[in-house]
Amino acid sequence: MANPTPIIVAIDGGAASGKSSSSKILAERFNLLHVDTGSFYRQITSELLKQEIAPTEQAGLEAALAGLDLSTQLDGRSAQMLINGQAADDEIRSQTVNENVSHYAAIPAVRQTLLSYQRGQIDESQKHDFRGLIMEGRDIGSVIFPKADFRFFLHADPAERAKRRAAEGQTDSIVERDRIDSSRKVSPLTCPDGAIDIDSTHLTLNEVVTKMSDYIATKLSPA
Ligand code: CDP
Repeated sequence: MANPTPIIVAIDGGAASGKSSSSKILAERFNLLHVDTGSFYRQITSELLKQEIAPTEQAGLEAALAGLDLSTQLDGRSAQMLINGQAADDEIRSQTVNENVSHYAAIPAVRQTLLSYQRGQIDESQKHDFRGLIMEGRDIGSVIFPKADFRFFLHADPAERAKRRAAEGQTDSIVERDRIDSSRKVSPLTCPDGAIDIDSTHLTLNEVVTKMSDYIATKLSPA
């Protein structure tokens, strides 16, 4: 049964800080819809690169964004964004997208395009009888759901994060992405006031998940 007052869990943090791994486990444990907003920014980036529209081409960008029809399909308990009916492919994890995504994500029109789509995931969670959602990104606890039931912010030492990304076989300039994400004017990556700050540098994934779980369990029993 869908929860009449869906629980919202926000997880923000820098690149490769462990958001996806922990939020997938928590989504399973508490029967929440998992929403990876980074994948949405990656998909839009991939689409704009395909259309050969540079981040600096304001008019072209706005026209291209207006032409994107965004919808959702479920993959297990994760929300997948469809752009004009198409799901993301492996390209969204490519080096090219890693290098470009922060530049597109800094553009107000790109963020605006995703704003109501992201908030609309609450309805998606209700429609599919989840007890709420767990959404990961950079501005979830600060901008998208500032009144979320739980707002976590994950930190980890950059060297440790680079090691994790390399172990996944990816070439990714995480420090550079964090620099651009933290310094942009609109919705920068920041730990919002009142968020629960967790430094995962010396913690295992299991330890991080246990910490978050203990907080969530104060409002919601495991499913
Ligand atoms: O998985 P990883 O932490 O490396 O990154 P991601 O969550 O897939 O996000 C990719 C990029 O999307 C980030 O570097 C940001 O530029 C952008 N992003 C954002 O601006 N706002 C969000 N809520 C989520 C991602």
